[in-house]
Amino acid sequence: ARTVRLASIPGDGIGPEVVAEALKVLRAAVDGGEVEFDVTEFSLGAARYKATGDILTDADLDAIKQHDAILLGAVGGDPRDPELRGGIIERGLLLKLRFALDHYVNLRPTKVYPGVPSPLSNPGDVDFVVVREGTEGPYVGNGGALRVGTPAEIANEVSVNTAYGVERVVRYAFDLAQKRPAHRLTLVHKTNVLVFAGSLWQRTVDAVSVDYPDIAVDYQHVDAATIHLVADPARFDVIVTDNLFGDILTDLAGAISGGIGLAASGNINPDGTFPSMFEPVHGSAPDIAGQQKADPTAAILSTALLFDHLGLPDEARRVTEAVEADIEARSALAGARTTSEIGDAIARAVSRVATTL
Ligand code: NAD
Ligand code: IPM
Ligand code: MN
Repeated sequence: ARTVRLASIPGDGIGPEVVAEALKVLRAAVDGGEVEFDVTEFSLGAARYKATGDILTDADLDAIKQHDAILLGAVGGDPRDPELRGGIIERGLLLKLRFALDHYVNLRPTKVYPGVPSPLSNPGDVDFVVVREGTEGPYVGNGGALRVGTPAEIANEVSVNTAYGVERVVRYAFDLAQKRPAHRLTLVHKTNVLVFAGSLWQRTVDAVSVDYPDIAVDYQHVDAATIHLVADPARFDVIVTDNLFGDILTDLAGAISGGIGLAASGNINPDGTFPSMFEPVHGSAPDIAGQQKADPTAAILSTALLFDHLGLPDEARRVTEAVEADIEARSALAGARTTSEIGDAIARAVSRVATTL
């Protein structure tokens, strides 16, 4: 039997609530099979920081690196908490993990599942993947401020884009487009204003496209892309974009797919040097935390991405099919289900799927 060492980081707010359900489903999916999961929980996040001052120590990072994959809930406390101002947990924990583990591909698939209450009246056959760059752009913390607090304050936040960093994520996106039936790739940027980075991204896509003659390539400015994502999302297949644009577009993608509670993601280190990390796109949702109101579907679908990444496509399919069936049945359900009721239902369906194989 194969043993997968999984690091679980439930995190803050609704993070622990949705991770509990994701682990329930993950265990149901492997139950009785050849693969075993050995789960180590890491209690990181706002509570630990407030108690100890530590966010992610070198020892934490070393221990996390000893795992085959990571499942993360959400991090970041209530933004109104003065102790947590400036995204101290987000940068010190989530972004530090993405950078230290070289998660240069942030994979964010979007589907409109049958029966889902999308805010779009006629979304069409929506099935696209945003390949968001994960280690560069305006996220690197390259900036500074002068004369802070004075009327003459100047704040700089510099976006870093390297030829190496852009090419590797663009190649990944082309490879992904090659594996998908539609064979389309859209670069989203803002080349009309961000001319230096935009030029690097456009030239890289042009150069790499030569190696993929059967992929249809196009380009959209990010502002126009938000129009098309709402007006005609079915036109997209693979979108490749920078770290910040990808962040914004994937919350929008979550909303059109029927809610941010459905949007899953993988922070991938394609080289396999470091463990990849799977997490819902959403945050810690302090407004609904601790009330069993969170939709755990995004966290559950993140385990399907995790299974796929680990070369366990049967388990991934079981989870996806159980989620699809659950989503389809939702509109007929009277009254809202709690977080754990949704997890229980999907875990039961996963077990049923498993036993009928
Ligand atoms: P958020 O995603 O936490 O919440 C946005 C809205 O979506 C809220 O109304 C929330 O109630 C709702 N929502 C989110 N997840 C849901 C779910 N599973 N089911 C039902 N509703 C859900 O974004 P925010 O409010 O901007 O951020 C809150 C905190 O989370 C901040 O500290 C932020 O930095 C952090 N954050 C963390 C991550 C992460 O860990 N990956 C991602 C985004 C935001
Ligand atoms: C996400 C989040 C993070 C991001 C924050 C919390 C740092 O919004 O995973 O989408 O901006 O990448
Ligand atoms: Mn985000």
